[in-house]
Amino acid sequence: MKITLDVNGVEKTLDLDARVTLLDALRDHMGLTGTKKGCDHGQCGACTVLVDGRRINACLSLAVMHDGDQVTTVEGLGTPEEMNTLQREFVSCDGYQCGYCTPGQIMSATGMMAEAAEGAPSHVSESLTAPADLDDAEIAERMSGNLCRCSAYPFIREAISRAHA
Ligand code: FES
Repeated sequence: MKITLDVNGVEKTLDLDARVTLLDALRDHMGLTGTKKGCDHGQCGACTVLVDGRRINACLSLAVMHDGDQVTTVEGLGTPEEMNTLQREFVSCDGYQCGYCTPGQIMSATGMMAEAAEGAPSHVSESLTAPADLDDAEIAERMSGNLCRCSAYPFIREAISRAHA
């Protein structure tokens, strides 16, 4: 099947088997290996990307379902030379240890902050007006879909909180 995706602002047309996941399309067909494959079953969050601004697990979604969608991966946020604010805070707070989950953590935090700014409720708090309103428990709840096997959670939360202070 032929599909067209807008990936990090660049339109890409792909001819894919209908069974190819969005994660495999990004990694194997577009060379965007910043998005990681951990469990491949929707349990770890390593594959988190934004689709039309909303975070999803790319391993759980078929690429052909996203024909015409805007996809943002970690490569679309910044570069090693020019990191965005959140990426810089992950570095300065040591928000990682092995680093494998980091792209997913950063993409999830990016989507989470947009959701919080829109006032989208989490299970913890129902009325938020701005990302700066998020306390540590709220950030933990909203980031609970992203696992870190090294357990760098306090530093990850600190980075997120500082990026949006
Ligand atoms: Fe997709 Fe783990 S690789 S959630």
